[in-house]
Amino acid sequence: DGDVYKYYADGEWKKSASGKSVAIINPTTRKTQYKVQACSQEEVNKVMDLAKSAQKLWAKTPLWKRAELLHKAAAILKEHKAPIAECLVKEIAKPAKDAVTEVVRSGDLVSYTAEEGVRILGEGKFLVSDSFPGNERTKYCLTSKIPLGVILAIPPFNYPVNLAVSKIAPALIAGNSIVLKPPTQGAVSALHMVHCFHLAGFPKGLINCVTGKGSEIGDFLTMHPGVNCISFTGGDTGIAISKKAGMIPLQMELGGKDACIVLEDADLDLVAANIIKGGFSYSGQRCTAVKVVLVMESAADALVEKVKAKVAKLTVGPPEDDCDITPVVSESSANFIEGLVLDAKEKGATFCQEYKREGNLIWPLLLDNVRPDMRIAWEEPFGPVLPVIRINSVEEGIHHCNASNFGLQGCVFTKDVNKAIMISDAMETGTVQINSAPARGPDHFPFQGIKDSGIGSQGITNSINMMTKVKTTVINLP
Ligand code: G3P
Repeated sequence: DGDVYKYYADGEWKKSASGKSVAIINPTTRKTQYKVQACSQEEVNKVMDLAKSAQKLWAKTPLWKRAELLHKAAAILKEHKAPIAECLVKEIAKPAKDAVTEVVRSGDLVSYTAEEGVRILGEGKFLVSDSFPGNERTKYCLTSKIPLGVILAIPPFNYPVNLAVSKIAPALIAGNSIVLKPPTQGAVSALHMVHCFHLAGFPKGLINCVTGKGSEIGDFLTMHPGVNCISFTGGDTGIAISKKAGMIPLQMELGGKDACIVLEDADLDLVAANIIKGGFSYSGQRCTAVKVVLVMESAADALVEKVKAKVAKLTVGPPEDDCDITPVVSESSANFIEGLVLDAKEKGATFCQEYKREGNLIWPLLLDNVRPDMRIAWEEPFGPVLPVIRINSVEEGIHHCNASNFGLQGCVFTKDVNKAIMISDAMETGTVQINSAPARGPDHFPFQGIKDSGIGSQGITNSINMMTKVKTTVINLP
């Protein structure tokens, strides 16, 4: 069937012998947009073998050569930004301009990773034995960083290109091979991105991309003995993966409930602008989205008015028109969001706008006077719905933030830098932004969650290091 996108293995585009395919539903039209191959477990086994042997040769390829290929892939990726962005618009309803930005950012990430890899992997350590008691200077220890082997990369639907390359590029520069399992929604964008790596001329079998049903190949991939490291971004599935995975390094970025703490002295125009950007860009479908506003009672009325005025200006509609608010990724996601909204309504939250939904399109909604007994105070909607909780002390805000099972990022708005730093220290999150909305980028910054938000740290440098292990050689002198 010519309509089904092929998967990528051994440097070739292949049809699955299963003859089965997976449909990708366009969130806007709610009709099948694309189809991808439903790979079988047998095909996964083959891909694992290929990735394993390709990695052995790749590890011996000079670092500068690996970097050169990555730079080439980055340039090709940027050249192909328009067709890839078009897929993002159709598969995940990302607004047209943001879709282009995702691809360009991805190209930049790949190039930066190549450069950073050459710097940090080209260096090792030299230790001498006589610094430890009881030793003469008779042992010289040389350290280097060696690859882990086969990296399984599983990105989420919200950045199928960028969060794929943020795993692929560090893996490759460090001498690993890749098995990519893209999200179903986003799979075609990911396949186009893989095509750019194909055009760059990487060795066969080094990069592989299998598509299919999570129910058939999900556990099979994550529990596969051929996998030496899993880099996963997504939701609760990550917790299940970490329980089932073998004794291999895991890099996981899961959900978040990023709080925005607003003190009475904050610049409320700045806060409102950041709440709009942080809470509503890509319709709130970012793990780093502002997911709860904790504002001091004395500033709350003024802030809510400002945010309301800006919400009214958000454009709502199809991603092709580059609207601010576009349909959420699936019907089940829209239903989940609606469940949170109805729960808040029943329990007496103040609706700053009328709740409105058409298909998967949910109009932006600010909920004021949210209380801790409401689900939306704790759960992440992953949609354009933002709760405001009024607080009477900074401690109350910190307490709410730390009572969450998530700990990805958070932000605090105040002109008092000392207070901001004390609050940052008190917040149990991987990152705290002072006077700006949470965000992963710039992509070389460390990025990590604590508690249910993840394991390990990302960001270009940390990801390269995470995808290597230390090897030492000790020279024993007579
Ligand atoms: O949701 C994925 C997460 O990595 C967010 O990235 O760039 O939107 O902060 P960003």
